[in-house]
Amino acid sequence: MADFLIRPETPADYRAVEALTRDAFWNVYRPGCLEHYLVHRYRGREGFVPELDLVLEMNGRLVGHIMYVHAAIHTDDGKVLPVMTFGPISIAPECQRRGLGKALLEDSLARAAALGAKAVCIEGNPAFYGKSGFVAAASTAIRYNDEPSAPPYFLLKELVPGYLTGICGAYHTPEGYLVDEAEALRFDASFPPRERLRLPGQLA
Ligand SMILES: CC(C)(COP(=O)(O)OP(=O)(O)OC[C@H]1O[C@@H](n2cnc3c(N)ncnc32)[C@H](O)[C@@H]1OP(=O)(O)O)[C@@H](O)C(=O)NCCC(=O)NCCS
Repeated sequence: MADFLIRPETPADYRAVEALTRDAFWNVYRPGCLEHYLVHRYRGREGFVPELDLVLEMNGRLVGHIMYVHAAIHTDDGKVLPVMTFGPISIAPECQRRGLGKALLEDSLARAAALGAKAVCIEGNPAFYGKSGFVAAASTAIRYNDEPSAPPYFLLKELVPGYLTGICGAYHTPEGYLVDEAEALRFDASFPPRERLRLPGQLA
């Protein structure tokens, strides 16, 4: 693999990271995408973890990004169990499937553990995240938002072994992940125009 460097994002990276996120997600899960607006809006919001707002540079070029947010599992016996979540994670389309996403994910998980995170909950593709030790929450007693059972894309990873053992409760997606589509469209107009396509396999 080519030399790469993972470092915290700085304000000078903001626009490049948003453009990268747009490139990585464009037409993948829906026609166009919302994730670049999500990144734009989340920095500085409550729960955002600046130390885990990371970019990956390869040969001096910014080709990857990940950001984390504090979240919680509300247990059925009334406790609030702190966890973290992350996303979006983006690797530039022309650099995908070379191990960079996994490298960025695993470096960021080590940094999250060093900051005291004990478990990470995410919504994502088990085929990618399973390679880094995430398991389906459906195999545990942790539910997803108000759904009666966990969907297959709701995944967990303990950073401290046993932290989630015996836990019954519900994880709630942090509010900041809910994006207003009309606002996202207005934000998208500040980027070069691009065709929104409806493609097989999209979720929305
Ligand atoms: C998802 C993403 C971050 C993965 O990064 P990447 O650099 O392409 O992935 P890697 O090369 O590090 O892959 C790591 C492992 O996951 C597997 N993997 C990666 N993406 C996969 C996919 N879409 N489907 C199935 N397996 C996948 C790889 O085969 C590899 O397996 P291996 O370790 O056995 O070789 C990147 O493809 C991306 O930015 N995609 C668009 C945006 C997106 O979907 N983000 C995630 C939202 S959940």
